[in-house]
Amino acid sequence: MRIALGCDHAALDLKRAVLEFLQEAGHAVTDHGTYTEESCDYPEVAANVTGAVCSQGADRGILLCGTGIGMSIAANKTKGIRAALCHDTYSASMSRRHNDSNVLCMGARVVGSGLALAITDCWLAEVFEGGRHQRRLDMVESDGQ
Ligand code: RB5
Repeated sequence: MRIALGCDHAALDLKRAVLEFLQEAGHAVTDHGTYTEESCDYPEVAANVTGAVCSQGADRGILLCGTGIGMSIAANKTKGIRAALCHDTYSASMSRRHNDSNVLCMGARVVGSGLALAITDCWLAEVFEGGRHQRRLDMVESDGQ
């Protein structure tokens, strides 16, 4: 899978762990930064990752910040993005099966790297079920109509 990965300064160590995990699993990862511990603005990184997913340069995106909240709020501003903030494997699984999430957000100050990698693994493996869930996503896409 082609995966666009990004973080802010609060999640630099977690991004390194996720990057290594994804590459070892054979995925093609594009690292959209940030690359240093210098404070940066998460909306800029989110826009770069969601842009890659929407332009189909990437199949999925993963965004990491301190809580994951800022990244998920920012990512969901982009039409066509279904970003899921997940700090457990059940939510990660269901976000794929029922919500067809195309961006995974996690908070480096919330979960340790072991759990984050388990969440990532689960999220990448699960498949969207379609059917009534697609109908609901179509409603979301058309602003609830
Ligand atoms: C940075 O301190 C922090 O605000 C950011 O990483 C993120 O948690 C925002 O939602």
